[in-house]
Amino acid sequence: MKETSQEAFLWGVATSAFQLEGSPHADWSSWDTILSEKPDVTNHYELYREDLGLLKKLGVNAYRFSLEWSRMQPREHAWDEKAIEHYQEIIAILRRDGIEPMVTLHHFTHPLWFIKKYPWHEDASVDKFLAYVKKVVAAMSDVTYWITFNEPYVLVLAGYFEGCIPPAIKSAPLGIRALANILKAHAGAYDIIHNACPHARVSVAHNMAALAPWKKWNPFDKLLARVAKYFYNHSLLDAFLTGSLRIKFPFKEELTISVPIKDKLDFFGVNYYTRIHMRFNPLKKMGVEMRHRDIDGNGLTDMGWEIHPRGLEKVLRYASRLNVPLIITENGIATKDSQKKISFMKNHIDVIEQCKKQGMDIRGYFYWSLIDNYEWLQGLDARFGLYKVNFETLERIPTNAAAYYSYIIKNRKF
Ligand code: FCB
Repeated sequence: MKETSQEAFLWGVATSAFQLEGSPHADWSSWDTILSEKPDVTNHYELYREDLGLLKKLGVNAYRFSLEWSRMQPREHAWDEKAIEHYQEIIAILRRDGIEPMVTLHHFTHPLWFIKKYPWHEDASVDKFLAYVKKVVAAMSDVTYWITFNEPYVLVLAGYFEGCIPPAIKSAPLGIRALANILKAHAGAYDIIHNACPHARVSVAHNMAALAPWKKWNPFDKLLARVAKYFYNHSLLDAFLTGSLRIKFPFKEELTISVPIKDKLDFFGVNYYTRIHMRFNPLKKMGVEMRHRDIDGNGLTDMGWEIHPRGLEKVLRYASRLNVPLIITENGIATKDSQKKISFMKNHIDVIEQCKKQGMDIRGYFYWSLIDNYEWLQGLDARFGLYKVNFETLERIPTNAAAYYSYIIKNRKF
């Protein structure tokens, strides 16, 4: 990455299109019944100008958002140019307001035609995705920051291993094939973006977690935590460093898959939320049970996730070995309690400050999320927003955390 660390620290918020605006053509629309009652969620697709105005009020200098592929390519051979213009307009408004766009190409959802005919374990998925990338990148080649995939591991673990999200295929071997194709698609997208825009900065947003054994003395829990830590946090980093994806599960033969992503990274996006405790439980699938516990007294969020700011330091340290600048592309809390939201932000931002002082090359922080939205498999009750949404009237109401974040942005000199 060519820029110098003198560039302004990116203080942003992150959203995803589907979670704000739904889409009649997306696989998720028919997946979660809650969406049949509220298909356009916060109606951001129409209220985007007002919502972008909130960014200005907050004083952020960056905004991470996603393009809803299924709106732009509702059928395999049909593009909706109006939908593409819609996202171009968002970028133009951000530019006008001096806010750096960070565009996510894929944030969990797919056009229905894609997931039905070309789910990720099919090799043809890669070209189909890249055709979409070519089309939109040509239309938005003035964008510098791109995220190709949001949380590829979460997508594959939930879509294939657990089978709880589309394409809901419960097969680990197909999941691994899907992951390899997704990484191949990342490499292709990286090249397409760089050809269109040589100074672009491209990454994935990798969900990283602090992982620990449920009982420190239990060798099975310890083994599980170690395996999970390698697979979930590190195997992607190694794949970016070496071009090989190493899959190692206990009692299974080790697999090494070649993936063409070596050095296809200009910065690294880290999504960090929580610590997870791993417990060996023979009654569970593959003997794995994941739990949250409030060990340090920091509390749990409304999603039941442990609040664990120190874990952010750990995962940033892991990611530092990539030797590219790091950006926290998501960090946030579901709570109706503004004070709790404020402490969460403060404690995580303090950790970032300490990490920077230790020499880690951290260039930005994006709070998840701007306004309350649809949370995957949870519905509308997980309140991550700096602005609360009244889902009856669609009114956006500032929480005290919004004012607090503005204060941080003005006063923290990173
Ligand atoms: C992340 C997802 C994001 C949001 C937050 C709460 O894993 O990337 O879309 O749902 O969790």
